[in-house]
Amino acid sequence: MKRVLISKKKIDERVKQLALKLTKDYKDKLPIVIGILNGSFIFLSDLVRQIKTDLEIDFLKLSSYGDRKISSGEVTLLKELNCDIHKRHVLLVEDIIDTGISAKYMRELMLKRKPASLEFVTLLHKTEVSKLDFKIKYVGFNIPNEFVVGYGLDFAQKYRNLKSIHVLKN
Ligand code: IMP
Ligand code: MG
Repeated sequence: MKRVLISKKKIDERVKQLALKLTKDYKDKLPIVIGILNGSFIFLSDLVRQIKTDLEIDFLKLSSYGDRKISSGEVTLLKELNCDIHKRHVLLVEDIIDTGISAKYMRELMLKRKPASLEFVTLLHKTEVSKLDFKIKYVGFNIPNEFVVGYGLDFAQKYRNLKSIHVLKN
């Protein structure tokens, strides 16, 4: 029913590589790493434990797809930050960038607060789908336009606890 797209082993290797790069890029900058709930919680927890420089962590929560696989195109904020990002180096951690609607929304929201810098880290990017007018600096894997679950990603709240990334077949 579910085909493995990216194994746990591949994910671990890539998370280590991303963390190495982030360690270099954010050395002594005390970045605020912001996880986008709920999907990014496993990726974020693996990633930050591999980053070897001091950092802070906070979370944002956006409205979800509900139980559908297609984005409603409407984004609302369900949980605000608990910190001030003004003049701070901000890293937004996403599980996946699909249409890019959520990323655009968060970018605009964060930029109004004038951080010192703002970048995205996403584990997965559906490059065929997203049309962005800004660059996603840190990408784990570019994937085809298929609905995936596992490693934090859900369908109707299920499958977040799978260790690998699977394509959900109908
Ligand atoms: P976007 O706004 O279309 O880029 O999608 C944002 C959010 O939709 C992601 O952070 C995920 O939570 C969810 N999403 C998009 N594609 C998938 C998928 O293939 N599987 C599970 N969740 C997804
Ligand atoms: Mg998400």
